[in-house]
Amino acid sequence: MASASAPGKVILFGEHAVVYGEPAIATALDLRTRVTARLAPGGATTVNGQPLTPAWHVHVVEALRVLGETRPVAFSTESGIPSAAGMGSSAALSVATCGALLALGGPAEPEAAARAAYDVEWSAQGGRGSPTDTSTSSHGRTLLVDAAPHAGLRVAWEIARGERRWRLHELDWGLPHLSVVVGNTGVRARTADQVAKVARFVGRTGFAKDVLREIGDVAREALPALRKGDAVRVGELMERNHRLLAILGVSTPELDRLVNAVRPFSFGAKLTGSGGGGSMIALTDRPNEAAQAIRRAGGAPYVVKPDAPGVEASA
Ligand code: MEV
Repeated sequence: MASASAPGKVILFGEHAVVYGEPAIATALDLRTRVTARLAPGGATTVNGQPLTPAWHVHVVEALRVLGETRPVAFSTESGIPSAAGMGSSAALSVATCGALLALGGPAEPEAAARAAYDVEWSAQGGRGSPTDTSTSSHGRTLLVDAAPHAGLRVAWEIARGERRWRLHELDWGLPHLSVVVGNTGVRARTADQVAKVARFVGRTGFAKDVLREIGDVAREALPALRKGDAVRVGELMERNHRLLAILGVSTPELDRLVNAVRPFSFGAKLTGSGGGGSMIALTDRPNEAAQAIRRAGGAPYVVKPDAPGVEASA
């Protein structure tokens, strides 16, 4: 028997643009998913006592395929991350499932879990997307995901797909005195649909590419601000990133309402993840007031700790 737990994540800067080679900054959250895998010789593969069903258990089906596990396995899963909410629940499930399967055969290294989980997400999302979510969940802490090298930052690993390449750089979380408050709109949105929507926009107009490049510039500007712990600058850049994502068409009236409501209590706020629903984040030193503002505006607030540890697996 083996089990693994993996954290959710929020993207601070650069979602969507990272799919096209621009930089993104993401941090792991202290909300986790745990998967236990028990070999079931002579039995059938099950998930939480139910027969494995491709339509419901796509991440588990793909993890078994990617890691070549053909023996029957009884899985149990437990998640503290709201699903389809932009908080990385699907990546954490993929990472924890791969982590548990790897641990059945020996030590499960975060890099191996990250590579396998990215393959899982790639298939589950219809052949699109970057390794940002899965690598942040596997590695933990805070990462700068960028094709370009950055002097002075350690590269944890590098992942390539087709003509794209992403280097996963370790970044110090420069704002240990601040909280991140997540506001979930409660509107469920699939990452695959939002990524496909942006791809259609990019295919139709050069303007979309300009917006993506500008989002990349914002992430590049955020890097020194985050390293210096300059909350005011980080907050301003979050606001700018939100406006650019709105122009890209992935914000919603519900997300805009939560971002506006939390502004008086935060350094900055923006949608996080793929948008179309899901969640926004605010960077704040007044987490309780920010959470109340989100609740009053119709969202579900979570005061979370960023920079959380990555996948932890044991057999
Ligand atoms: C989703 O959390 C992040 C996106 O950039 C998609 C991806 O990177 O694969 C929207």
